[in-house]
Amino acid sequence: VQTCALPILDALEAIRVEALGRKGKLAEVSKTFGKLTPEERASLGKLLNAVKQELESNLDARKAALESVALNARLASEWFDLTTPAPGIRPGHLHPVTQVQREIEDLFVSLGFAIMDGPEVEQEYYNFDALNIPPDHPARDMQDTFWLKDGRLLRTHTSPVQIRALEKLGAPLKMIAPGRVFRNEEVDPSHEHTFYQLEGMMVDRDVSVAHLIYFMKTLLSAIFHREVTVRLRPGFFPFVEPGFELDIQCLICGGKGCPVCKQSGWVEILGSGMVHPAVIESAGLDSTRYTGWAFGLGPARTALARHGIPDIRILYDSDVRFLEQFAR
Ligand code: PHE
Repeated sequence: VQTCALPILDALEAIRVEALGRKGKLAEVSKTFGKLTPEERASLGKLLNAVKQELESNLDARKAALESVALNARLASEWFDLTTPAPGIRPGHLHPVTQVQREIEDLFVSLGFAIMDGPEVEQEYYNFDALNIPPDHPARDMQDTFWLKDGRLLRTHTSPVQIRALEKLGAPLKMIAPGRVFRNEEVDPSHEHTFYQLEGMMVDRDVSVAHLIYFMKTLLSAIFHREVTVRLRPGFFPFVEPGFELDIQCLICGGKGCPVCKQSGWVEILGSGMVHPAVIESAGLDSTRYTGWAFGLGPARTALARHGIPDIRILYDSDVRFLEQFAR
């Protein structure tokens, strides 16, 4: 028991010293022993011992009582419930780009598509040549990237997975391939050098533009859960023919023009088209037998559009307070 600094205990100690201390009352009485007869001394000694013992035991009992009151008071004030559940760990949540990706995966899995993966460090052949982009093709300039000394490169799009999937699984094929891609890109409100894409492809007999349009419409209404104004315009990608760019009317400015849509009122969110026969042939399939459609979508741009976020760079900021508002 910790001796308590209670004033009352000090008072008690003062009483003890006064009665029983070396210069106390009892000691004073014993000084008279010298003047007494042996018989008187014996009886006074006995008496003094008895008084001393009684005083000591009373003082001890009092002290113990006071200390236990003090201890109880302290225990009561310091009590806590060991069984109270701990405050709990704050759960994290998926990044808004991952949320878009997962939703699209769920949609396409429900439509019978496989989810495929491909390497981020890719061979030139898969990233360009097999996709109908020969070495001297100007499309290579539009997708400048980071090259390794051994001739491989950081893939500029998820389209190489088209070839890998066809080589591996053949036709008929229905697959999507989400993943990270890289470009030697000037970073601005709608461009990052490292970003995500989601590729989709269907190859079978008699696949037509009607299928492409059906799947793109299904995709857009699943992502935006509302009417969005879209515009389909011809777009050039060497691995599709015909090729289309699908734009949505900018949901940030409503089409009036802002930094995200580069003042155009429209945001490009996916490229698509009918798979070029040369691509089907690259993968070792007969292009007179099989046709297909493909698309490549930017999940980050989709997330920006969905939430009205005006700058892509903020999605990758190390300060996560911005992202925390997208917890679900
Ligand atoms: N790979 C193209 C890009 O990165 C997008 C695309 C994919 C276009 C599939 C058509 C078909 O821009």
